Amino acid sequence: MTREGIDRFPQQFFIRHANEPGMKRSLGARTVAYPLPVFLVGTYDSQHRPDVMAAAWGGICSSDPPGIAVSIRPSRYTHKNLIETKVFTISIPSVDQMAETDFFGIVSGADTDKFTKTGLTPVRAEHVDAPYVEECPVVLECRVTNTVEIGSHTQFIGEILDVKCDESVLGADGKPDIALLKAIGYDPIRMEYFVTGTVVGKAFSVGNKYRT
Ligand SMILES: Cc1cc2nc3c(=O)[nH]c(=O)nc-3n(C[C@H](O)[C@H](O)[C@H](O)COP(=O)(O)O)c2cc1C
Repeated sequence: MTREGIDRFPQQFFIRHANEPGMKRSLGARTVAYPLPVFLVGTYDSQHRPDVMAAAWGGICSSDPPGIAVSIRPSRYTHKNLIETKVFTISIPSVDQMAETDFFGIVSGADTDKFTKTGLTPVRAEHVDAPYVEECPVVLECRVTNTVEIGSHTQFIGEILDVKCDESVLGADGKPDIALLKAIGYDPIRMEYFVTGTVVGKAFSVGNKYRT
């Protein structure tokens, strides 16, 4: 810490130190965030064969236009497909597709027809020439608007052109019900899947008690 930094922020630096007993333990510089999603990125290859891969490095990145980003290594077949077609789908799996999702993340579409192997159904999306997984309850149709090279991965940013949802996971109010969805997430340290579904509070509301 420079003398200048200490003078500008004296309290932050001297109240407590992160490595003191009882403080947080460093786990090092790692790819950790909670909760992480598990997306299934669907693309066609140059022969129009459907491929789908698991991706946990992703999330919503823009409200207007609605956007989602996924980071994909150049070694993935999906990466090649995305560079060529510039469109993709995101299928959001529920716990019912957990084993298939994992399989989609451990074999490559370069040498395996993942849909035939698992028995899941590829469906061509309505707004883009890319396949989604019929059995997944929620599907996003996207076109690539930007790519960003970030170290080991290319981040593909997609404009979301449509979201499709199974009737069976809609609540009485016509909106997706997280308890019915049972979407799976990924724990990047333990390398385990978890299921989402418990509502604990109303957003943009429970924090209001700290106003005044
Ligand atoms: C839970 C999980 C999450 C993954 N997340 C990513 C990711 O975000 N980016 C990536 O490049 N690979 C990720 N992978 C690895 C790819 O899914 C895997 O390499 C897959 O075989 C690529 O398929 P493809 O060659 O057909 O594109 C993940 C795998 C698993 C199991």
